Amino acid sequence: MPESVIRSRQRRRFLLQLGSLSIAASTRAAFATELAESRIEDVLNTFDLEAIARRKLPPAHWAYMATGVDDDRTVAINHEAFSNYAIRAHRFVDVSNVKLSVVLFGETYPTPVYLSAVSSQRAFHPDAELGTARAAATRSALMMMSTAASTGIEDIVDARNGPVWMQVYPTDDWAVTRAIIARARRAGSPAIALTVDNMTGRNNETLTRGARADTRRCTDCHINNSHDFIRKAPMFTGIDVSRVKEHTPSAITWDFLKRLRDAVDVKLLVKGIMTGEDAAQCVEHGVDGIIVSNHGGRDEETLHATIEALPEVVSAVNGRVPVLLDGGIRRGTDVFKALALGATAVGIGRPQVWGLAAFGQPGVELALDIFTRELRVIMRQAGVPSVSGIDSSRVMRR
Ligand code: FNR
Repeated sequence: MPESVIRSRQRRRFLLQLGSLSIAASTRAAFATELAESRIEDVLNTFDLEAIARRKLPPAHWAYMATGVDDDRTVAINHEAFSNYAIRAHRFVDVSNVKLSVVLFGETYPTPVYLSAVSSQRAFHPDAELGTARAAATRSALMMMSTAASTGIEDIVDARNGPVWMQVYPTDDWAVTRAIIARARRAGSPAIALTVDNMTGRNNETLTRGARADTRRCTDCHINNSHDFIRKAPMFTGIDVSRVKEHTPSAITWDFLKRLRDAVDVKLLVKGIMTGEDAAQCVEHGVDGIIVSNHGGRDEETLHATIEALPEVVSAVNGRVPVLLDGGIRRGTDVFKALALGATAVGIGRPQVWGLAAFGQPGVELALDIFTRELRVIMRQAGVPSVSGIDSSRVMRR
């Protein structure tokens, strides 16, 4: 191979790594980073998918995905905080047959990694939620769809070839909330995840900067130039949304959860819990599962990583219901640590979007495969042949 070709390939790899590093360090720095071309077979990890997605997406859509609030520190800290924990490896354990499967609400999944709710996926790839659902189908992965999805639940269920969990926002019109839940039930949803950490009025500065940097006309895709999902997302088609002012009412209290619990006859989870006190209250209100989440740092700049919140939630819940976690999961070792600290399963938000934006359905499959491969490797290394063996004795605070 000519010297110049080798040099050009090395340079491309270097740029890709450089891009990955700077994006991991700061989403804002990513706007200034030139990234090299890449092919799906070159991808080593989820950060490579991020770099490729960054190159392919228009600035406003990239920023919609990447944004946190204020200085985006909670986005970064969600992942960085995994480094506060170290894995305790045992030797002389037969790990010739490592099993990654988990059971959640009686269903067996091949890995503990699920696809968390991500809205408006048509902004990332024409395959949109159908590509994600097909990837979930080929990998038998659990998919939680967003109420703000760019595709209705019936088509997603068809593509998934099986049921999906439905994420809902409370809204300040009970009739609207009830109608969404009823539609999810008709489509066979076995679980409703109520998101409670997304108040109106968040300060997404990276999103604003990205939108300013984007020269395209939003009206080409956004109906009436609307970014208000209640008025445009297909899940709200045919529902009178004229009275909805807030998708998460400012005046919401525990009474809402009580009312919802009475109305939901499938599994009910609360997504967005960050303290033991709230988790205990949720369980007392009869929920079937808790999702430790801060919306991927998109809503509040608390600097409180989900992995740091997990132990107090697990302790408060005390085994009564499963505890799930999302936020900052980028490596198989992150999955391992979350399970060791008491999570039953972990959700990925941005990594699925990076895969989708980079390569459509095969990109989401690749993201899932990367987590499976990396989790298997660390389980072998740590001497844990099955997920049930990943307990608190396997991590320590650094
Ligand atoms: C989200 N998330 C989200 N959550 C939710 O309950 N309903 C939603 O509609 C959305 N939409 C959404 C869009 C985009 C672009 C992102 C990145 C995230 C939050 C998501 O479910 C999850 O909590 C976080 O994304 C997890 O953090 P990571 O994996 O992105 O770090």
